[in-house]
Amino acid sequence: MKRYVHFPRVEGEASRQAHADLPEGTYEREISKEGFFGPAAHLYHRHPPTAWTNFEGPLRPHAFDCTKLPGNQDSPWKAAELLHNASVRVRFWSMAGKMPQLARNADGDELLFVHAGTGDLFCDYGHLPFEAGDYILIPRGTMWRVECTQPLRALLIEATNNSYRLPDKGLVGPHAIFDAAMLDTPRIDDAFRGQQGETEWRVAIKRRGAISTVTYAFNPLDAIGWHGDLAVARINVRDLRPLMSHRYHLPPSAHTTFLTDRFVVCTFVPRPFESDPGAMKVPFFHNNDDYDEVLFYHAGDFFSRDNIHPGMITLHPGGFTHGPHPKALKNVLQQPKPATNEYAVMIDTRDALEISPAAAQVEWPGYVDSWMGA
Ligand SMILES: [Fe+2]
Repeated sequence: MKRYVHFPRVEGEASRQAHADLPEGTYEREISKEGFFGPAAHLYHRHPPTAWTNFEGPLRPHAFDCTKLPGNQDSPWKAAELLHNASVRVRFWSMAGKMPQLARNADGDELLFVHAGTGDLFCDYGHLPFEAGDYILIPRGTMWRVECTQPLRALLIEATNNSYRLPDKGLVGPHAIFDAAMLDTPRIDDAFRGQQGETEWRVAIKRRGAISTVTYAFNPLDAIGWHGDLAVARINVRDLRPLMSHRYHLPPSAHTTFLTDRFVVCTFVPRPFESDPGAMKVPFFHNNDDYDEVLFYHAGDFFSRDNIHPGMITLHPGGFTHGPHPKALKNVLQQPKPATNEYAVMIDTRDALEISPAAAQVEWPGYVDSWMGA
């Protein structure tokens, strides 16, 4: 347990409860350590902290349009890399038809998020159908391939040299958000047995970013059964039951779905807005100084963002002050809706991310201006 200098106090005109009962006409900004878990202060500003008139330099935020990336790579190892650091690699993969080879990631666990498409995954553990909204967790070392019935568009999130875990649900207990019993695992079924055979198959193994190809005179996905507590697992975003409070705007960490030692994956799914008159209804302004924040927009209306459509991805580097876009803020306050209607995947990384050339090619350079003050 880390120890911090700890002295909560109130100075000047301020609320004693974060994210609620703000002094009239003020904008709350959170300054915090360790994401939403370390020491923090809430400052009540006269002006929106993002109402800049000019923003220059490398701290600017980025928005990338994955729908503009070139399509159809028949292997996940050919997918466009967008963002990376030593502990995570984020790629966007488009493919149609059947993978001609098996894939195996020897660098880390792979989390595949299906943005669009349907099909079947065949892996060491059997057969698993997939559809849009599925998270498919593929443990490091698993051999797998997909056959698409509708073209696949997927986000690949590699936990480099690490493993995915489920978050500790703390006060709300292990069955909240989703029950681990809801995780589907592959089946040794007729479809799986039907793809086994004595024809030649290659396995493209990725280790330290380099590909090695191993050839067999048979299909190595030939298990007749398995037992254990390690397997490919799937959950759909529609099966997530988000935490919410009618009186308190919960931080993004309340929506954690998977985590590793150096990053977390959170999921935003439709939920009712806060109804208490004193509760904040939009994300609070903050810098999240210890984390880079990545958001992939899957479906719906992104209530706190302007000019963002499904298939886009944004990067807010640690230290960049952000919060709701001005138009979104006005809409929420002036035309209140009962619930959000957004599905988005957030990746918060403890270490700074590098932008890969493929992402830079589909960047929307005007993103930083979407907060600009009048
Ligand atoms: Fe944030």
